[in-house]
Amino acid sequence: MKTLSVALMGSLMIGSIALAHQGVKDPFVKARMHAMGTAGQATKVLGDMAKGSVDYDATQAAEAKAALIQVAQDLPALFQENASDPVSEARPAIWDDYADFSAKADVMAAAAVALDTSSAATIGAGLRALGGSCGGCHKAYRQKK
Ligand code: HEC
Repeated sequence: MKTLSVALMGSLMIGSIALAHQGVKDPFVKARMHAMGTAGQATKVLGDMAKGSVDYDATQAAEAKAALIQVAQDLPALFQENASDPVSEARPAIWDDYADFSAKADVMAAAAVALDTSSAATIGAGLRALGGSCGGCHKAYRQKK
């Protein structure tokens, strides 16, 4: 547990409380899946606003953006430990090229920072780059089960 950040410890705790991923035993895997779930939820909130299926809400949009930045910044630490679990979708290649993996997390952080949440239209415009950053990493490092 050498270099675990306070944020990571927080996600570890939240991860153990959350009912999602109940089948996951490994605490590191649980924490990183939980963080990814947070990113998924935040992206959905923004996507729904961009599509107009939910009303634009400046506060919620800003919160979603902040959550995405936080997850992106936490990603390298969350995956520092080469932890595995039968339920995990992480490819071992992450730990063969951890620098590249971390660089892909930086791309997500930059896209999240650049996201302009001032209207549904600007969110929609920014989501393209954000979504690309998710896909860029998943394609290389996530094996869907
Ligand atoms: C730097 C790499 C990286 C980036 C960037 C990234 N992901 Fe992931 N994501 C992963 C990996 C690796 C997994 C599989 C983790 C595991 O199962 O141990 C994953 C899993 C997930 C999951 C499944 C979580 C679960 O409960 O099993 C969701 C949802 C997800 N990502 C959403 C996103 C979204 C949305 C974005 C962009 C906003 C994003 N991710 C960006 C690497 C990344």
